[in-house]
Amino acid sequence: MAMFYYHIVPLTIGSIRCSLRSSVAVLITLFVIGVIYFPRENGRLYDQKEDLLTDDHTSKFSPDQNHSSDSCDLFSGKWVFDNKSYPLYKEEECTFISNENACQKYGRKDINYRHWRWQPHQCNLPRFNGTVLLERLRDKRMVFVGDSLIRGQWVSIACLVNKFVPRALESMHFSFNHSLITLKAEEYNASIEFYWSPLLVESNSDDQWNHHFPDPIVRAQAIYKHARHWTDADILIFNTYLWWRRPSMNTLWGSLGSADGILKRVEMLRSYEMALKTWSDWLEIHIDRNKSQLYFMSMSPTHRWAEEWSKSTKGNCYNEQEMIEQEGYRGSETDPRMMRIVEDTINDLKRRGLQVRLMNITQLSEYRKDGHPSIYRKQWVALSEEQLAKPTSYSDCTHWCLPGVPDVWNELLYAHILT
Ligand SMILES: *[C@@H]1O[C@H](CO)[C@@H](O)[C@H](O)[C@H]1NC(C)=O
Ligand SMILES: *[C@@H]1O[C@H](CO)[C@@H](O)[C@H](O)[C@H]1NC(C)=O
Ligand SMILES: *[C@@H]1O[C@H](CO)[C@@H](O)[C@H](O)[C@H]1NC(C)=O
Ligand SMILES: *[C@@H]1O[C@H](CO)[C@@H](O)[C@H](O)[C@H]1NC(C)=O
Ligand SMILES: *[C@@H]1O[C@H](CO)[C@@H](O)[C@H](O)[C@H]1NC(C)=O
Ligand SMILES: *[C@@H]1O[C@H](CO)[C@@H](O)[C@H](O)[C@H]1NC(C)=O
Ligand SMILES: *[C@@H]1O[C@H](CO)[C@@H](O)[C@H](O)[C@H]1NC(C)=O
Repeated sequence: MAMFYYHIVPLTIGSIRCSLRSSVAVLITLFVIGVIYFPRENGRLYDQKEDLLTDDHTSKFSPDQNHSSDSCDLFSGKWVFDNKSYPLYKEEECTFISNENACQKYGRKDINYRHWRWQPHQCNLPRFNGTVLLERLRDKRMVFVGDSLIRGQWVSIACLVNKFVPRALESMHFSFNHSLITLKAEEYNASIEFYWSPLLVESNSDDQWNHHFPDPIVRAQAIYKHARHWTDADILIFNTYLWWRRPSMNTLWGSLGSADGILKRVEMLRSYEMALKTWSDWLEIHIDRNKSQLYFMSMSPTHRWAEEWSKSTKGNCYNEQEMIEQEGYRGSETDPRMMRIVEDTINDLKRRGLQVRLMNITQLSEYRKDGHPSIYRKQWVALSEEQLAKPTSYSDCTHWCLPGVPDVWNELLYAHILT
């Protein structure tokens, strides 16, 4: 049985340009509730406290060693407890953290979820260095495009960079009706941006602050309105997944708000495929292959049904303080068919001469049922006492606490950008 419905609360943001020194954080909410049931068994996956005292996990990495995707799959590995090097920054030190990721601020007391390092089986990840990244980004634009999950990743990279180069990223500039948020490192003339388009193509949910439609309408054939704002970027990182999680999509041929269009309910996978085709056709024609690096983040898993990882437990990610140990664990909301469509689209683009790197973060994130905010976050309004008392109904098991899992996605991205 599967049923999905989205409860999306609109948010507003006060100022167009704000100093981050004054701790203005971005507030956004996407709260997802659904029902799925799939019992699973547990095994062992990770070596807790292994390597605790060794700090040489970076020393083995060098550009000519086994870190490239040819010789080493960075996404195949295990989590290692490492409270010496992790977290990579402190929540309270990062002024960019939005309320949907600020778990400690909203009362989360356990801390182990912040102390995990991702260890690829065949090689080591390079240690993240914000100075090196900013040097790479000198006179360049890096743009994250997609939904609230990639927005969390963008916040994470801003925190990581600022940890290394304090106050490098200070001004936050909103443009195109707030679809684009730019963080600029003036000294480097580098910008790290987030562009909101949760379905990648056009939809009636393209307003980042006001998109409370339970059943979105997607223009699967249209991307120009968005793409013209990021086509010239030097590094582009895309995602789209969460908003498609429903059996069928209202798919529109024609313009939103115009009477002469044709609106049809289309099976979701078909509509998803059409949208990714539109996206890839745009890239093929418009991207400067000599200039732009392209990445696609695979789907970020959710942990909304405790029955999936423990037969005896009811509930969700609330109060989960340990990760799932069963190697290869996959939750029922992770849809391999959608993954395959992404993969096919990217392979097809490759045949057409354009390389998009698939960042396969799904499996490594699957284990991290401990990484979500649950009730320790703020929505448009803070959860009421009554709601806090009912974590089974009001937990966010979709987004991630920061510092946390998205930092590792960025370490993986960083490793690829360096090569
Ligand atoms: C992603 O990684 C998982 C685990 O390593 C693997 O099973 C899956 O095939 C990969 N998917 C893609 C599209 O590469
Ligand atoms: C790291 O974890 C170990 C084992 O849980 C603990 O003994 C140690 O005090 C911790 N170190 C730090 C710096 O938190
Ligand atoms: C590097 O890759 C080669 C060939 O795949 C393998 O034999 C070697 O053990 C790897 N080295 C490290 C340090 O992982
Ligand atoms: C980061 O890189 C810069 C420039 O290469 C270097 O000077 C600095 O020591 C590095 N920082 C760390 C913590 O490794
Ligand atoms: C700053 O970077 C932008 C690209 O993001 C580039 O177009 C511009 O020429 C750069 N400015 C200078 C002064 O180099
Ligand atoms: C911004 O929104 C207003 C009102 O919704 C609209 O009239 C205007 O065209 C939008 N501007 C851009 C650049 O999208
Ligand atoms: C890209 O680089 C190749 C080889 O350096 C060159 O032949 C080609 O004209 C360049 N293409 C563009 C669009 O600049």
